[in-house]
Amino acid sequence: MKKPTILSLFVIGILVLGHEASAAKYVGAEACARCHAEQYNDFRVSGHPYKLSKAEDAKKRPIPLPQGYSWADISYVIGGAHKKVRYMDKQGYIITATKDGSELKTQYNLETGTWSFYHKGEKKPYGCGSCHTTGYKKDGHQDGLPGIRGTWAEPGIQCEACHGPGGEHVRKGDKKKITVDRSAALCGRCHIRGAQDKIPAKGGFIRHHEQYNELLASAHKALDCVACHDPHKRSAFSIKSECSACHTTQASAYKGSTMEQVGVRCMDCHMPMAAKSAVARGKHEGDIRTHLFAISTDAKADMFYVEKENGKERTYAKGFVTLDFACLSCHANKDRKWAAATVKNIHSYGK
Ligand code: HEC
Ligand code: HEC
Ligand code: HEC
Ligand code: HEC
Ligand code: HEC
Ligand code: HEC
Ligand code: HEC
Ligand code: HEC
Repeated sequence: MKKPTILSLFVIGILVLGHEASAAKYVGAEACARCHAEQYNDFRVSGHPYKLSKAEDAKKRPIPLPQGYSWADISYVIGGAHKKVRYMDKQGYIITATKDGSELKTQYNLETGTWSFYHKGEKKPYGCGSCHTTGYKKDGHQDGLPGIRGTWAEPGIQCEACHGPGGEHVRKGDKKKITVDRSAALCGRCHIRGAQDKIPAKGGFIRHHEQYNELLASAHKALDCVACHDPHKRSAFSIKSECSACHTTQASAYKGSTMEQVGVRCMDCHMPMAAKSAVARGKHEGDIRTHLFAISTDAKADMFYVEKENGKERTYAKGFVTLDFACLSCHANKDRKWAAATVKNIHSYGK
């Protein structure tokens, strides 16, 4: 056999590189539907794919526009599947005012049907793509729009945001050519705020997209998100392991108790709405469930602490919920002292 020449090595090199390039192709969720109808159908009705939508797609959904704007003024819609909607103008900036720059509430809140200010009047570039898109790269400007930082293969969290580019797998249907990452760290790429060892808070609530920070601060830190969630499903339908599957002692204590009989669930106390995305429902009720799980039974405990950083005061949560969050969103006419006095053996209360 002849020794390989420089030229043949070069040709092989090109072939290998070419192969790698085609392997790294994003093909979009529609390309997966044909063979994975179950995951695809669940995913289509979850929030992930709608995180960022082109105006032409978003306008097919019942999404209102900020006062004075028409669809012709919008390039992308941010969110609108779950809690709130924000809008991008034709230059790729997030809308924060009227078209002529006057004061306007430009964030729509789905649950309440109300509008809030968002960075009132600021020129606000869209630098959110790393958590809202698939195949994100931080250089350049998507669609050439100056307000957008970075580019992406597709808007929204598509299949390939979690499974990696699927071009090669789609062609071959070969299991080995697609990634399955079951780690909490995968989800933690986006379900995080700031450093992972702190839980930023603001206005009496934990801030939103901190599920990873919270989980790591909890007794569940060794669990992956997919220990509880089917990642393809909308959260309310995604729980594949109930609390009772692992906590049999507490579950049997709870069965037949006063609150179990009226339908209060484990998560109502252990995962109260201690975080806020759009609008708080009450003084101690935000609109996002916490993943801290631990409840402090001390009537005087404070859930938050303040730290000075570069002269600025920052608030963080300590890693448990207090009784006002765990109990008083339902027992609104009671106080923490009452809760602390009744909380002992609460699982079997009334039995
Ligand atoms: C032509 C059919 C076909 C298409 C199109 C297809 N797949 Fe698959 N996929 C398969 C087959 C076959 C398997 C192996 C199933 C098995 O072993 O149970 C598989 C397995 C998988 C697995 C599991 C791999 C593992 O290690 O367990 C994932 C994840 C996956 N596909 C994701 C995708 C995504 C994302 C897309 C779209 C980009 C896609 N598939 C498109 C046929 C397809
Ligand atoms: C938010 C991240 C995420 C998205 C988006 C996502 N997947 Fe998955 N997928 C996962 C994870 C994590 C697993 C492993 C789940 C486990 O083992 O419990 C998985 C597992 C799978 C499997 C193996 C069988 C199963 O259900 O466990 C297939 C097939 C699959 N995904 C296809 C898809 C397709 C097709 C899409 C888009 C329509 C998609 N996935 C979107 C994270 C995701
Ligand atoms: C570190 C990742 C990350 C960054 C950066 C980020 N987000 Fe998000 N965002 C999330 C996650 C995760 C959620 C959903 C979970 C939650 O709210 O707790 C979310 C939720 C939202 C929602 C609500 C979606 C809905 O359907 O209700 C909007 C709107 C939103 N983000 C806008 C923005 C904007 C605008 C920016 C940039 C200024 C931004 N986000 C930056 C991760 C991120
Ligand atoms: C690339 C960023 C990204 C990754 C990776 C990611 N998410 Fe998300 N996730 C988001 C954003 C952004 C939202 C808000 C979407 C919305 O509801 O509009 C969200 C929403 C959710 C929701 C609530 C929405 C619903 O449909 O009920 C759940 C539950 C969720 N993610 C779980 C997971 C899990 C579990 C993983 C890991 C397997 C994961 N996510 C990985 C960005 C991401
Ligand atoms: C897959 C198994 C699993 C599931 C599902 C699960 N847990 Fe746990 N849980 C654990 C493990 C493991 C620990 C840590 C060891 C221990 O304390 O038993 C733990 C600890 C806890 C603790 C102790 C908190 C502390 O700080 O001491 C609470 C409270 C708790 N879980 C509540 C829940 C609730 C509520 C649910 C349902 C929303 C749930 N768990 C679902 C496995 C699970
Ligand atoms: C009415 C509110 C409430 C409900 C509902 C509730 N818990 Fe608890 N749970 C508590 C309180 C309060 C504590 C005590 C915290 C302490 O003493 O440190 C606790 C403690 C725990 C602990 C820590 C170990 C222990 O027994 O003290 C686990 C695990 C737990 N609960 C799991 C569950 C599970 C699983 C369910 C549902 C079957 C559930 N809880 C329902 C309020 C509740
Ligand atoms: C011990 C079980 C468990 C683990 C582990 C877990 N979750 Fe959850 N998660 C739940 C339950 C239960 C709900 C509430 C579901 C419902 O509304 O019925 C939930 C809700 C959510 C929501 C919606 C919150 C809201 O109120 O809108 C998001 C987003 C989410 N989880 C993301 C994650 C991510 C990301 C991880 C990993 C970092 C994770 N979860 C780990 C049990 C868990
Ligand atoms: C999701 C709503 C909800 C949450 C959260 C909740 N409760 Fe309840 N609780 C109820 C309902 C409903 C009843 C039955 C009707 C009633 O007596 O008020 C009840 C009954 C009780 C009773 C019996 C009252 C009586 O007169 O016999 C006690 C004590 C109690 N709860 C304490 C607590 C404590 C302590 C917490 C927090 C650790 C808590 N509850 C969290 C809804 C809730």
